[in-house]
Amino acid sequence: MFDLTEKVALVTGARRGMGKSHAIALARQGAKVAVTDISQEECQAVVDEIKSAGGEAVAFKMDVSNKAEVGAVFDEVIKQFGRLDILVNNAGIYTDKPALEMSEEDWDKTININLKGEFLCAQRAAKEMAKNNWGRIINIASIASGGVGVGYAGGAHYTASKGGIIGMTETLAVEWAPLGINVNAIGPGAIDTPMISASQVPEEEMKEMLASIPLKRIGRPEEVSAAVVFLASEEASYITGATLYIDGGRLSQ
Ligand SMILES: NC(=O)c1ccc[n+]([C@@H]2O[C@H](COP(=O)([O-])OP(=O)(O)OC[C@H]3O[C@@H](n4cnc5c(N)ncnc54)[C@H](O)[C@@H]3O)[C@@H](O)[C@H]2O)c1
Repeated sequence: MFDLTEKVALVTGARRGMGKSHAIALARQGAKVAVTDISQEECQAVVDEIKSAGGEAVAFKMDVSNKAEVGAVFDEVIKQFGRLDILVNNAGIYTDKPALEMSEEDWDKTININLKGEFLCAQRAAKEMAKNNWGRIINIASIASGGVGVGYAGGAHYTASKGGIIGMTETLAVEWAPLGINVNAIGPGAIDTPMISASQVPEEEMKEMLASIPLKRIGRPEEVSAAVVFLASEEASYITGATLYIDGGRLSQ
């Protein structure tokens, strides 16, 4: 099960954190992986790690909010590997900003990277996947995405972008079902990555947050990658338009 040999995957935001973990996990299942992010050098380090474990991968600098760059990198990946089967739309930013202090630039930057970026990559990927009548698009959202009762003070732009991702996922799943492309979202809870460390949550607040999780701990990137591998596989053939929350039980509280 979950054999991805012969599949080609592209992961965005894959120089570190969860994206890196997803790239490594997909390669371990046999996929050839395009590791993309804003730093070519750091993507290359991930590629080296994949290759030293016997996998196949290539590194690309790709800013997901730049349509021309997205187009050029997808073209190159398809040229090098001959196809594209799996897209993991993982790139995202979080900057803490109270809504009353949020500038139009703050809002636009987050929406452009987190939401528009996922659309641009999904659209370009689907054009290729449709040729083989097979594709898997996995959009990374968050538990902080609306409809499940999780608001984050300081994250109006972020939560709006993540809610948008879930709405977009459901629509793309409907539009692209006839093309053989399954589109799903993953909503992680708190996962131990540089994004969490950079947000410098005060120790007391972190303790409180962990106490609100039934499993009483922060998640590991690999625990999200396991779901990415599953949704990317043939075994997930009847799942589309779904959002899978991976949150240690947080939403069940
Ligand atoms: N860590 C968490 O607790 C958590 C929870 C829910 C959702 N998420 C989501 O998971 C995803 C991965 O985040 P992470 O926690 O690994 O954080 P991270 O900051 O380590 O990873 C995000 C990656 O996105 C990249 N990125 C930023 N702007 C980009 C751009 N314009 N183009 C391409 N890449 C860009 C960054 O360089 C970085 O490598 C994000 O979408 C994030 O919103 C994280």
